[in-house]
Amino acid sequence: MNIELLVRKNILKLKPYTSARGDFLSGILLDANENSFGSVAGDEWHVELNRYPDPFHNRLREELSSYMKLEKEKLFIGVGSDEIIDLLVRIFCEPKIDNAITLEPTYGMYKVACDVNDVQTIPVMLDESFQPQLDKVYKAITPNTKLIFVCSPNNPTGNVINPESILELVRNFNGIVVVDEAYAEFTDKPSLINSVQDYLNIVVTRTFSKAWGLAGVRCGYCVTSPHIAKLLYKIKLPYNINKLTSQVVLNALKNSQQKDKFVEAIKQEREFLTDELKSIAKIKKVYPSESNYILFECDNPTSVYHLLTEKGIIIRDRSNQVKDCLRVSVGTREQNEKFLNELRNVL
Ligand SMILES: Cc1ncc(COP(=O)(O)O)c(C=O)c1O
Repeated sequence: MNIELLVRKNILKLKPYTSARGDFLSGILLDANENSFGSVAGDEWHVELNRYPDPFHNRLREELSSYMKLEKEKLFIGVGSDEIIDLLVRIFCEPKIDNAITLEPTYGMYKVACDVNDVQTIPVMLDESFQPQLDKVYKAITPNTKLIFVCSPNNPTGNVINPESILELVRNFNGIVVVDEAYAEFTDKPSLINSVQDYLNIVVTRTFSKAWGLAGVRCGYCVTSPHIAKLLYKIKLPYNINKLTSQVVLNALKNSQQKDKFVEAIKQEREFLTDELKSIAKIKKVYPSESNYILFECDNPTSVYHLLTEKGIIIRDRSNQVKDCLRVSVGTREQNEKFLNELRNVL
């Protein structure tokens, strides 16, 4: 497969901006119009905040590649995985001409990123077990379909998409399959990261926002062929990952056992919450979750949602995506108990 044939011509031709810190990170730095006297933030951050960060995220990619046990060239780091989704649309989809397929119900940002870039999305419904209907996906593909977004575990349904179905798409689709694994740490089912060595047209996105507990620092990454990683580096804003974010993520990578403990605790609470929800008679269905949220069905979900909000319990009304369904993130035991008590009252 020749990836270049899928890339927008203006992106192929683009002469990327050469940033000062891309050329030099040390020396007597008088090249980037920074403030050589220091920073108003003071010295407490232990990084030179008066200097622009490394545009190629070398240190971060080195540490992440050794943590992930894969080559640095296969990694791209973004301002959350949301930035990566947007960049992929911009690399591959010609506005007003190309389109992308989403497997609905799913994470809403794929469509938003496409809409912002004036790229049509073609929704194809998942089946009643929230698995892809490959025949329908193949029928929906047009000569201008460049991307297929697959979210696994899927948000908001919580299930893992059968990896064999995803790989079948990767093999048969003459475009890029984006596998969003934002919640991969919460399932024991295998990730598709290793498939990157077998196929050029797969991008697996991951994030530090969920299992690692770092939603506030905005850092996501993807694993893909070095060719696509280079394209992402070519078009991103020069200094997308700031030094404070890098510092926090580098520290987090040294402390990955804390992430593992979070994952274990969240899985345990997920089981508790699932069982409790199932025991409430007025809840009609509790979907099994391989993620850190649970989808459940009840009558009048929108009023249940509003009544819970009045009690200070904030969950998500997903009834516009899955009939009569609400989605609750797994909290601490105390939060879960408060949520369950109020939910029982409201129902
Ligand atoms: C499926 C999915 N992908 C990506 C994201 C965004 O992650 P990030 O914080 O890395 O931008 C979310 C956030 O909720 C998500 O649910």
